[in-house]
This record gives sequence, structure tokens and C-alpha cells, in this order.
Amino acid sequence: MGPVCVLQGVRRPFRIGDRRVAALDGVDLVVQEGAQVVVTGPSGAGKSTLLHVLGLVDADFEGTYRFMGQDVRQTTEAERGRWRLGRIGFAFQDLHLVPTLTAMENLLIPLLAAGTSRAAADDRARDLLLQAGLGDRMDHLPTELSGGERRRVAFARALVNKPRLLLLDEPTAELDEVSVQGVRALLERASAEGAAVVAVTHDARLVVDFAERYQMTSGRLERLDMATPPSPYG
Ligand SMILES: Nc1ncnc2c1ncn2[C@@H]1O[C@H](COP(=O)(O)OP(=O)(O)OP(=O)(O)O)[C@@H](O)[C@H]1O
Ligand SMILES: [Mg+2]
Repeated sequence: MGPVCVLQGVRRPFRIGDRRVAALDGVDLVVQEGAQVVVTGPSGAGKSTLLHVLGLVDADFEGTYRFMGQDVRQTTEAERGRWRLGRIGFAFQDLHLVPTLTAMENLLIPLLAAGTSRAAADDRARDLLLQAGLGDRMDHLPTELSGGERRRVAFARALVNKPRLLLLDEPTAELDEVSVQGVRALLERASAEGAAVVAVTHDARLVVDFAERYQMTSGRLERLDMATPPSPYG
């Protein structure tokens, strides 16, 4: 198998009235199998936009993106939908939990949609929520959870179908030190299960866990020098 993601000269222009913003402005990036990539950068730099393109949520980009060897611009929405379900795990910056479903049910939906049996789905969902430190919150609705707890539910949900590519947008926002341990446990598990991880974070506690570091500024991505040793996990 080649790399999971190859981006070449990717641009993502947005037009608001007469104003044009290139949220991505010529991004080159290779994400190898099992890689651990972290992206930092100021607000508005294009970090979430990059994850949306990588995650096949946003296909309105220019340039070339090959996902698992296939040219994304040549795929149909239905194909991208299947890949998002089976091959990609995404914990969005604004979470997108289903508000009427419990934490447990939010995890069960993509498991059952992928054809997992009810018993196996129950086991996997429970196991991931436990690892996230949410063992006593499984039957809570999103509104009955704290911000940090909701964020961990979204992370656990991203892992249910053992994705080849895991995308995390600010996974430790609103999290204290103990909850960050829950996030670390999930990260280690994702790597052990073979996912390539691309995370966006400002959290210095988390950046040190990643072997490959990039800085995003005004839609451009720059690899940072490795002054520190690589990740302790994976
Ligand atoms: N749907 C959209 N329509 C128009 N402009 C957009 C859209 N999405 C993003 N942008 C613009 O693209 C730029 C990059 O946005 P993006 O959300 O990727 O930034 P970010 O690096 O994730 O910021 P933050 O750290 O605040 O989450 C911003 O200037 C934003 O206003
Ligand atoms: Mg963002």
C-alpha cells in the first residue's frame, strides 16, 4: 500500500460577495500509513478546511488529492460517502453529535450503518467509551454532558469503524489534564489499530505526542523541524 493521502497544489477558494479567500493556497502533503501528523497555526489559517478536504467532506477544491491511491476529483458523492463511513474517522471542531441520541447511540449509528452486528457494535462502543473515560456517561444525551465529555464522545465515535485515516480537529479543547489522558488513550488505540492520524491542535500537551509537525499560515502548510524526539507511541 502507498500513502493514505497525497495532496498536490491543493487550493480551496471561498467567495463571499466580492471578497475571495483562499482558505487553502497551494498545499502539498503526504500522509503515510500509520503516520502521526499534527498541524498548528493561527485562527483562520485554514486548518479545519484542510481536514474537511482530507476527510472527503469538502470536494470543492482545486489541485490533486489522492486518497488511498484514488483521485478524489474522479469519485462520486456516493463513493466518498462509503469511504467516509468505512475508512475515515472524523472528530469535527463543532462535533456534530446527534442531539437526540445518547453517547452510546451516537457510536452505534456508524457501527450499524457499516453492517456490524448489534452485539459486536455494543461491545465496541462500550469499550471505546470506557477508554475515553466515559464509562458512567454512556446513557447521557449530549446536552447532559460537559463540553469536554462531548468532545471525547465525538473522538470515540470517530474510531468505531477502525478508520485508515483519523482526523481530529482540536480534540483537547475544553479538556483538563485527566481528560487529556482519555484522549491519549484513544490516540494510542487508533495508532495500534493502524490509523494514520492528522490532528489540529493548539495544545502543547498534545503536540509532543506527534512525530510529524506542520505549521499552517494563511492557507499554506510548512513542515516544522524536528527538534524534539518522535512520538512515544505507535
Ligand atoms: N464555508 C466557508 N465560506 C466562506 N469562507 C470560509 C468558509 N469556511 C472557511 N472559510 C474561511 O477560510 C478561512 C480558513 O477557515 P478555517 O475554518 O479553515 O480556519 P482554522 O484554521 O480552522 O481556524 P480556527 O483555529 O479558528 O478553527 C477563514 O478565513 C474562513 O473565514
Ligand atoms: Mg478550525
